[in-house]
Amino acid sequence: MGGLFVAGIVLFLIARWAFVPEGFGELGHYRTGALADNRVKKPVFAGRAACADCHTDEAGWLKGGPHKGVGCEACHGALGAHASGESDVKPVRPDPAKLCLVCHLPNVSKPATFKQIDPKDHMDGAGKCGECHDPHSPDKEPKKP
Ligand code: HEC
Ligand code: HEC
Ligand code: HEC
Ligand code: HEC
Repeated sequence: MGGLFVAGIVLFLIARWAFVPEGFGELGHYRTGALADNRVKKPVFAGRAACADCHTDEAGWLKGGPHKGVGCEACHGALGAHASGESDVKPVRPDPAKLCLVCHLPNVSKPATFKQIDPKDHMDGAGKCGECHDPHSPDKEPKKP
């Protein structure tokens, strides 16, 4: 029994030596090298402040409207490469007909205070969202059908 016990401990120590990566535990319950590994990764999101440096109009419209709490990249997708000038690909304009419903489609799991519309009933499905609402400041007196 004693021999089996010792063998178990030896096996555990070998496995620990083989599997625990270098630097683990030096600064806490993680691998110290992970910090450096993550630091070299390029951020994929630029953040709203970066967008506002160049697109002052859109940033201004957003600030004054109900979408003030929605980040640029929540609608436009991650544009870190565009904002830092690394890619000269022009970002595509999101299609309001698809984009708006991602957030505003009714769903019981959303808070009742959040404005939700059923596209079939809303304005009798009279048109595409972007024809009446400005995506950056959607409350600016939507055109009545
Ligand atoms: C360094 C300045 C700069 C920054 C920062 C920047 N952009 Fe741009 N953006 C431009 C330029 C220049 C164009 C091309 C304009 C053109 O050709 O009409 C453009 C184009 C766009 C377009 C396409 C416009 C169109 O007419 O179809 C979108 C959408 C856009 N940017 C969103 C963003 C978002 C969101 C951010 C923040 C993540 C951002 N941009 C950060 C300079 C910038
Ligand atoms: C609620 C979603 C939403 C948010 C938030 C948003 N956008 Fe947009 N943006 C759109 C849509 C949709 C279009 C396309 C409009 C169209 O083609 O009619 C657009 C178009 C644009 C364009 C092309 C030119 C124009 O004005 O039509 C630029 C540039 C732009 N957005 C930048 C920004 C920046 C910068 C921010 C943050 C300050 C931002 N957007 C936040 C949805 C959004
Ligand atoms: C990323 C999620 C998101 C997307 C995409 C989005 N919205 Fe919104 N929208 C919001 C949030 C958050 C509010 C603020 C809700 C609040 O204050 O209770 C809002 C508010 C609004 C309001 C104001 C409602 C009111 O009476 O207070 C309108 C209108 C609106 N959005 C229309 C649109 C349209 C049109 C589009 C497409 C261009 C769109 N939204 C895309 C999140 C989104
Ligand atoms: C024909 C014009 C028109 C179209 C198209 C349209 N809307 Fe509206 N929308 C309005 C008007 C007018 C209001 C304000 C009156 C009301 O609340 O019914 C409004 C209100 C809203 C509100 C706030 C609702 C509330 O309870 O206060 C949201 C969210 C909204 N629209 C989203 C959308 C989305 C998403 C689309 C696309 C599927 C869309 N709208 C298409 C005209 C339009």
